Amino acid sequence: MRIAVFSTKPYDRRFLDQANQAHGHELVYFDPQLTVETAPLAAGFRGICAFVNDRLDREVLQVLRASGTELIALRSAGFNNVDLAEAERLGMTVTRVPAYSPHAVAEHAVALLLSLNRMTHRAYNRVREGNFALDGLLGFDLYGKTVGVVGTGKIGLVFAEIMHGFGCKVLASDPFPDAQAKAFVHYVPLDTLLVEADIVSLHCPLTPETHHLIDARAIARMKDGVVLINTGRGRVVDTKAVIDALKSGKIGRLGLDVYEEEEQLFFQDLSQRVISDDLFMRLTTFPNVLITGHQAFFTAEALGNIAETTLSNICAFESGTGELRRVTADKRV
Ligand code: NAI
Repeated sequence: MRIAVFSTKPYDRRFLDQANQAHGHELVYFDPQLTVETAPLAAGFRGICAFVNDRLDREVLQVLRASGTELIALRSAGFNNVDLAEAERLGMTVTRVPAYSPHAVAEHAVALLLSLNRMTHRAYNRVREGNFALDGLLGFDLYGKTVGVVGTGKIGLVFAEIMHGFGCKVLASDPFPDAQAKAFVHYVPLDTLLVEADIVSLHCPLTPETHHLIDARAIARMKDGVVLINTGRGRVVDTKAVIDALKSGKIGRLGLDVYEEEEQLFFQDLSQRVISDDLFMRLTTFPNVLITGHQAFFTAEALGNIAETTLSNICAFESGTGELRRVTADKRV
């Protein structure tokens, strides 16, 4: 099938081309993000392939549908960037990659936590400059601490397991607790988790219910000096409230792999430009904040699985057989 692949980076081509040897689709790569301005590039393509910051709102979907697109093959797990109701109304099929490597994301959340705790990001620069002073690098033992996991899907449970391995007590909050979760995962209401956790890690999807789940009220319930890690989606956190809490010292350390307005920033080299997002720039001024640009998924294993599952979704759509990992407005299949 002919597929227009948006937001293509060299690593996407590498892994998609490799996996496509077994599938034989015609993949046409476009560098730009999918927006209403770039949607016409997909004219005549029955399918398009999109990533997390491609915009698939009502307007874009209508442009795509009018020019012949029937399939949206997401090469991501999250699908908050798609107006699913509109896709359904237009008769378009949306597929995703439900699980490609929960380990990749969970391990990155742990990397953020460990770096922030021991201030490795600061120590690296200090040592390079011949500054071997330890002031400001004081960490704490993870052993014995309470970790709150918000969202115990595939990624949250792997993260919980790793933290259990460190000797942490694991609290979890999820409207749909996993009956298969290990006995060391103690489900509690979110409010209890926020009050009791030394470390809060977010692994829920972005939905209308989780938008700004971590706002000023939620932060007020947290322990003083709490460590907050977000590898879920930027808009789960109210950035302004988080900045206030960093200024007051309520939040002791903040690790982000996702950011509310990341669509304007991430996945591109802006080092020669002036960044006009003042909230983002304010975050970068705190010594106890560590931000990565949506790279938690970025392992060789994950990219290989993403490519393989995306292409096999396209095959299933084209042939009407095989597993079609479809996502619909009311339920995920
Ligand atoms: P999943 O679908 O397996 O699990 C999500 C869990 O969150 C489910 O158990 C669900 O019941 C729970 N949940 C829903 N609403 C909630 C709420 N209000 N409070 C607490 N829990 C809630 O998804 P998976 O694979 O574990 O991924 C989780 C999220 O991680 C994705 O939706 C995506 O946004 C993000 N992600 C980030 C990546 C990155 O590179 N930073 C890569 C992959 C996913």
